[in-house]
Formats: sequence, C-alpha cells, structure tokens
Amino acid sequence: MKQTVEDLDVGGKRVLVRCDFNVPQDEKGAITDDRRIREALKTIRYLMEHDARVILCSHLGRPKGEVNPKYSLKPIAVRLSELLGVEVKMAEDVIGESAHKLAENLKDREVMLIENVRYDAREEKNDPEFSKELASLAELYVNDAFGTAHRAHSSTAGVADYLPSAVGYLIKKEIDIMGKALENPERPFVAILGGKKVSDKISVIENLIDKVDSLIIGGGMSYTFFKAQGKEIGKSICEDDKIDLAKELLAKAEEKGVRLILPVDNVVVQEFSNEAPSMVVSSDEIPEDYQGVDVGPKTLELYAEVLRDAKTVVWNGPVGVFEFDNFAKGTNKVAEILAGLEGATTIIGGGDSAAAIEKGGFADKMTHISTGGGASLEFLEGKVLPGIDCITDKE
Ligand code: 3PG
Repeated sequence: MKQTVEDLDVGGKRVLVRCDFNVPQDEKGAITDDRRIREALKTIRYLMEHDARVILCSHLGRPKGEVNPKYSLKPIAVRLSELLGVEVKMAEDVIGESAHKLAENLKDREVMLIENVRYDAREEKNDPEFSKELASLAELYVNDAFGTAHRAHSSTAGVADYLPSAVGYLIKKEIDIMGKALENPERPFVAILGGKKVSDKISVIENLIDKVDSLIIGGGMSYTFFKAQGKEIGKSICEDDKIDLAKELLAKAEEKGVRLILPVDNVVVQEFSNEAPSMVVSSDEIPEDYQGVDVGPKTLELYAEVLRDAKTVVWNGPVGVFEFDNFAKGTNKVAEILAGLEGATTIIGGGDSAAAIEKGGFADKMTHISTGGGASLEFLEGKVLPGIDCITDKE
C-alpha cells in the first residue's frame, strides 16, 4: 500500500504535484479534450483546502529536450484557472529563475505550474541531478500522473528519492478500480482486447487469461489467430512470426477453461480506404483478395450475448479499423453494448476504446475510463509502474 496525499501533512508546505496534462490540442493549440485536467482537480483542490502551496508539473507532447512554444503548458494554466476559479501562476521556465521565484513567493492555497518538464533533456533520462533540482522547488511530492506512471522519468519517479512522497486521488482511483478487477473481480469477468497486433497485446492476453472467464479478441490481431487455426485470411493483416504464439494462447485458453471468442463474421474490403466497397463474410470464407476491417453483425450479436451476464468487463483496443468511420461500427457497437449493461463494473483502457465511449456519449455510463493509454495497458499486463513503485509505502 502506498501513501496517499491524505497521509501527508501538507499545511503551509510547498507540494510538487506531477500531473498528466498531456491533452490533445488542435492546430491552434486549443485543448480539444480536457478530461485529464479535470481528473487532476480532486488532488489539487484537496491540497488547496488543506493550506498547501501547490506546484504543478507535467509534460505535454514530446519536445525532445528542447524549448518549443508548441508544447508550452500555458494553455493548461489558463484552463486550470477556469476550472479552479483561481489564478494558476505560470512559470516561464521548468526549474530556472522564474519557477524558483514563483515557488518561493507562493502563499498557502496558491497554485502554480512550471513549464513542460520535457523541455529539459534530463527529464526522460531520469537524471538524478534534474530530479534533485525539481525536488528543490518543494518539501513534499505527490504523483497523480497515472497516464505517465509507466515512465521512469525524473518528474514521475526520480524526484521521489529526494522528497517524502504520496500518490494523488487519480492514481489511487485508477489502481483501486483496475487492481480490484485483476485481483478480485466479480464474475463473470470478460475482457475485450482489440487492436492491430498480437505483439502489442501478448503480455496483456497472457496476464488476463489467468483471470477472466471469457476473452473476446477482435481487431486486426484476430487474423493472426485465424491463421493459427488454419483459416484462410486473404490479404488481412497478419504477424506471421506470432502464429505459433497465437496457437499457444488458444491452447492455454482451452486448458484454463477460458472461453476465447474470435469474430465469426467480418467486414471485408479489397482496398484499404474508408470509401472502399465492403461485404460481410463468415470467418471461414475470407476471399483471397480481400482483407478484414471490422467485425460483422453476427459477431456483435455474439458479443452482446457473452457480455449480457458479465459482472466485470475490461476493454482495451478497437475491434475494427476505428480510424475509418465506415469501419468503426463494430467498435462503436461494443461501446453501446457496454453502456447498456446493468450492474456490471465496466473499465475502459485509454486510447481508441475511450474515444469510442466518448464519441457515443457513453462516458457517464462506464464505471471507469482510464486516463492512461500505455499506462493502463502495462497495469493490465501486471507490470510494476515506476511512477507508483517509487512512492513511499504506507506504514
Ligand atoms: C500518454 O499520453 O500516454 C502519456 O501522457 C505518456 O506520454 P508519452 O507516451 O509521450 O510518454
């Protein structure tokens, strides 16, 4: 058990809080989805209410160790000020004169934000000197950046070597909900795993196969599994070097009594484009010059049937070519099915699955939408996340 922000005596202290403000922006820099900012508010508000002096930090994008206005956190400070109803003071640098001066003059309940930590090349190297410099801004450290907890960087991990530390409410929520699903799920427990490549999802399949009752596999990686079953897959995407692994996973599922569900029908096209004419074929009849781009209607009926009684559902990855509107139907339908489940804990890994949920307007029907893409995947793989591991254990 890690210390949480409530275990720290924060009154009158300067507290460095690592958030994940890596939000999508349009070409003009306007924030197009502020969920990660809103999810950080609970910890910030708690600290303000307990008279702390709040020093926020985050990365945005991948500026590769160079100062680049495109990746400035200024728009984040503006949005945060609106949401908190107080001015969030913006430093001109990461840990230079401006950041130090603002931090030294910060009063109880005031909030400031330093510039993009990735402006400094030492951040991603987890350089101890940089970690020490970051730590010198504050007396306590709180990590609430779940989305970046899989990175061992200075602001997400190294800094904890120099300050008493705790996790914030967002990290606590993410690990409580996803941790319970992995360790003690209400059953039946169904996982839906999609995405292009088996190689991206091997570890998560291996970890979940020991825990779930049913495993739905959709998306591009289904075709590697079909090949493993000896089916013809036409021009569909396939990782030939993962066919043996797919065979092993199929055998393992059988041995464990896990129902592994692959698509029974597929939307197929001859050309890989949104406008390509398509048809639906059974998984045993994919024509030679066609490729699969989405699951078909019978598969979606099967999904609905398997999910109907589920008590815990974890979903990570689209079941079709989600970036093409015409072939996002299967993924959107999965979102709709999950939204209709009553009494089930529904957990959505970040990325395209979260986007499908948001797009369908189903966000408030889900138990939990993770703020982490890579981080939630690594958590589901059972990996130790450095941003959590570095935090002081609770006594
Ligand atoms: C994310 O968006 O997944 C996190 O903010 C981490 O970003 P990164 O992949 O650039 O480390």
